[in-house]
Amino acid sequence: MATSTDKLHNATAIDSLAISSLLTPNERLDNALANSAKNGLPRITISPLQGQYLAIQAQLIGAKRILEVGTLGGYSSIWFASTGAKVTSLEINPKHRDVAVENCKGLDVEVILGDAGEILPKLQSEGQIFDMMFIDADWERQAAYFEWGTKLVRKGGCIYVDNVIRELLEEGAPALSGQKESLLTHVKKLKDSGVKVTASVISTISGHKGNSEEMMDGFLIAVVE
Ligand code: SAH
Ligand code: DHB
Ligand code: MG
Repeated sequence: MATSTDKLHNATAIDSLAISSLLTPNERLDNALANSAKNGLPRITISPLQGQYLAIQAQLIGAKRILEVGTLGGYSSIWFASTGAKVTSLEINPKHRDVAVENCKGLDVEVILGDAGEILPKLQSEGQIFDMMFIDADWERQAAYFEWGTKLVRKGGCIYVDNVIRELLEEGAPALSGQKESLLTHVKKLKDSGVKVTASVISTISGHKGNSEEMMDGFLIAVVE
């Protein structure tokens, strides 16, 4: 039996093997990570394999307009823009926004500075519609952002929420038992009130971060009906 230390080591090795086997080296992405590190941004981007997964997802639905909540240095924005979609990304931190604008120069990426809780209602009142929404910002507001997503994403479009499993694990017993509201109970409430959305949760193990606390995670994916 492999010990959990072995498994951690193996998960990291599997990540490396998958990256070298499946991904094409991409200078723009590498430079974005290097420039983000140079500017002291936290290392909390999506992983390279997750980036390629999201780009595949965008291609599968023919996404032309993608809404992102949580830009950081624009690493995930670059993945989305690489599919040919126009990316609208929301970021509350001016320093992160500045680094993202540098990293995304020449790409079809618009970064809007501000609190997503305020910008999402504005986008809706302007009648903006997106094919896909990627939620990757403050975890405790996943449910609120998801609800805006059901209004901002077209029928047949999708909503992806990052870090859903880790948020539940960190919230602990009250959220896990359904006593405290989580994204999952909120989706149920929305569905019960007639919002047409079909969702699932996928757990992931990733050696990307190289530490066991952050290996277990997972995302929610939903299609707006
Ligand atoms: N999607 C990025 C990582 C995002 S990290 C990538 O994979 O490359 C999360 C980001 O969300 C941080 O930059 C943080 O400043 C931003 N954020 C946190 N709260 C926010 C809010 N209320 N509105 C907009 N952005 C927020
Ligand atoms: C953290 C945040 C994220 O959005 C993520 O994908 C990974 C880690 C964090 O704050 O640790
Ligand atoms: Mg995240």
